[in-house]
Amino acid sequence: MIKRDFLIIGAGIAGLSYSIKVALKWPDANILVISKEGLENSNTQYAQGGIAGVLPCSNDAINRHVEDTLIAGDHQNDQKTVNMVVTEASESIDDLINWGVDFDKNITGKYDFGLEGGHSKHRVLHHKDFTGKEIQEKLLKQARDLKNIELCNHHFALELITNKDKEDPRVIGAYIFDSKNEKVETVVSKIVFLATGGIGQVYKTTTNPNVATGDGIALAYRIGANIEGMELVQFHPTALFAESGDRAFLISEAVRGAGAILRNEFGEAYMEKYDDRKDLAPRDIVARANLNEIQSSTIPFVYLDVTHLQDGKFEDHFPVISAKCKELGLDLKTDFIPVAPAAHYLCGGISVNRRGKTSHKGMYACGECSSTGLHGTNRLASNSLLEAVVYANQSYKSVLKVYDSIDFEENVDDFWHPVVKKNLSLDLPLAELRKKLQWLMSSYMAVEKTNESLIIADKEVELISKKFEQLIKEKSYTIKSLEFRNLLSIAQLIIEHSLIRVKNSGVFFNKDL
Ligand code: SIN
Repeated sequence: MIKRDFLIIGAGIAGLSYSIKVALKWPDANILVISKEGLENSNTQYAQGGIAGVLPCSNDAINRHVEDTLIAGDHQNDQKTVNMVVTEASESIDDLINWGVDFDKNITGKYDFGLEGGHSKHRVLHHKDFTGKEIQEKLLKQARDLKNIELCNHHFALELITNKDKEDPRVIGAYIFDSKNEKVETVVSKIVFLATGGIGQVYKTTTNPNVATGDGIALAYRIGANIEGMELVQFHPTALFAESGDRAFLISEAVRGAGAILRNEFGEAYMEKYDDRKDLAPRDIVARANLNEIQSSTIPFVYLDVTHLQDGKFEDHFPVISAKCKELGLDLKTDFIPVAPAAHYLCGGISVNRRGKTSHKGMYACGECSSTGLHGTNRLASNSLLEAVVYANQSYKSVLKVYDSIDFEENVDDFWHPVVKKNLSLDLPLAELRKKLQWLMSSYMAVEKTNESLIIADKEVELISKKFEQLIKEKSYTIKSLEFRNLLSIAQLIIEHSLIRVKNSGVFFNKDL
């Protein structure tokens, strides 16, 4: 058994910024941060646009950011949470800057605030078009420099360990599979912090990397923690269209913020038909508009036109996007970029209060795996990195009050966890099941649903689940099958929550309601 004061599951912006905060506050505490693959391979790494926030130097106002967040979220947000996050933005962004994150400035030396859909002001801090990578690298460096943080890659959380008191549930650690040394470790911890990111891999087309399999939500669900809003999967309107591939390459919303125009197969700009804010309407509206145009067209994508923006500045602001388009043979002076909606972000997740606490004592959740009420039914662009860093700080502040009074709970030996082994024979049928699940979710549970599509998805996922159980007869798993177990729970939760919903709002759209 290993004892660590803090166990942090996930090493993106949420997990790293929390670990840095607690490490600086308690130099004698030992803090274990685990990541199931390489430490660089998080959802944060792929964030292009940036982080929204009103700073003292901004020509902006807190109440405008609040209002934009509420409008994008169809006023289904928790108003107090929105006020809190937007007000705390400046302090948390300062933390990032102090930890070395470099946000772009213009020639006058002032921050170059970008514009994105749903924002009434330029307020998105960015680092060219690879803000997430910049944040990930700088936070990792900071964490590596702190002696009391132990960063472990290739460590997969199998199950959370709870106490036995049903009236007063508490998380006291986790079983972790160290896949390099192929052994299960029992980690007992005073605080367990879930920061496992998104669920995009439950869909065939997603902007999320392979690791986004909803592990934290599935872990929390298995111990009975409160999970909410799983039907609120946000689709990004402009992922680069591709016939195949693991991850859909994102064409950042900041590109539309810089003036790009959506066009249909005939070259017509169509957003005016759907919303007065045209190409800069909130994401749910643009995603549905794009889908509608695609459905009435002969091609499976729409176009993003940046031809009028090729004055040299575009390539400077969007070097990664420009290089990707070039690699595909697109000349952005003359060619439009083919784009289509792709699963991007989960607005729901593990429910937490304004201090990041879950329904179980000792367990916090932060970032995309959590549901704070900030986003309502549709997240405003670039509010996700903000939510993660603000809630890491809130969770830290919450622990400040109680840390000294928490003790380790060591009586954990009779809990179940899956047996993990290398069993390559499972891999082929499993890969097929994963593909089938992804296809099913993209076909029946994507931007638009119907009563019938929900019922089909429900039945088919049940069948996949049965097949999976047959594959795992001896209850021995590989990492891939453990991930699949989590993906299945996520799919079931999305369907279950979608079946309950009686009203369309934000990203949730059932044509029959
Ligand atoms: C983007 O750059 O369009 C994505 C940013 C976000 O999801 O907020």
